[in-house]
Amino acid sequence: MAILIRSWKGSFVGVAHNPSKPHKAFVGAHPGLARIAKLCFFMIRLENVSKMYGSDLPAVRDASFDVAKGDFVFLVGPSGSGKSTLLRLMNRQERPERGNVWVAGRNINEMANSQIPYLRRTMGNVFQDYKLLPNKTVFENVAFALEVIGKPKHIIGQQVPQVLDLVGLSGKEDRFPHQLSGGEQQRVSIARAFVNRPLILLADEPTGNLDPATGEGIMALLDAINRTGTTIVMATHDHRVVNAMRRRVIQLDRGVIVRDQERGVYE
Ligand SMILES: Nc1ncnc2c1ncn2[C@@H]1O[C@H](COP(=O)(O)OP(=O)(O)OP(=O)(O)O)[C@@H](O)[C@H]1O
Ligand SMILES: [Mg+2]
Repeated sequence: MAILIRSWKGSFVGVAHNPSKPHKAFVGAHPGLARIAKLCFFMIRLENVSKMYGSDLPAVRDASFDVAKGDFVFLVGPSGSGKSTLLRLMNRQERPERGNVWVAGRNINEMANSQIPYLRRTMGNVFQDYKLLPNKTVFENVAFALEVIGKPKHIIGQQVPQVLDLVGLSGKEDRFPHQLSGGEQQRVSIARAFVNRPLILLADEPTGNLDPATGEGIMALLDAINRTGTTIVMATHDHRVVNAMRRRVIQLDRGVIVRDQERGVYE
């Protein structure tokens, strides 16, 4: 099996013929890309990352883990344990005091501010409170994500209906957020996060405001997106969701990773 290796900007950099050892079997057009290939196999890598706010106890302490391409990872733990902080370290909303964060082969702590928009294009973000623009319609909310990165109108006209269909909102393009249920608003926010087909989706408590049945629908949608190859990291308190999905679980306690388990549960 061969996998294509893409850089964080989405451009093609090479092919690995053995995904379990991509750095060894890497066939690159450029010398020295073996290291990039290895890092690309890990979509996200944290190395001994610590984040302090002020002089308090660290919000995240010495966290190290890899997230492979296509993985689905739950971050769980009590309130204040560092889940959201970890997500913010992955999209460089925050910078760690110590350690390194790699995303799609790039050390994002070393990235110039001018490169951050490119980083952000590789990832979509979904939040508990949706963060939709109240004065824009469903179509406009999703289209806006493409407009800000300079996509031409005809592409927007193709991609927005496609993604609204994917999330089950065809026919509701002209509604405003206040005319939608919570579950529908979350679908719009997922559509907005996914419309540019990012490599990674970061979700912070996406089912937190929803009843269990609606939350299940949102998880089915995230599962479908994950099956397209999109790597998903999701912070949640929701035991039911974690136990139903049986995906990798990274558990935090006061900023420390206390468990990292494949096909885990959350008691
Ligand atoms: N901007 C900030 N300034 C100061 N302290 C912060 C800030 N953001 C988070 N913290 C602190 O860092 C710790 C981790 O917070 P974080 O928001 O990551 O927790 P969480 O696991 O996401 O919690 P919740 O489940 O309530 O969302 C907490 O002690 C919190 O008070
Ligand atoms: Mg949080």
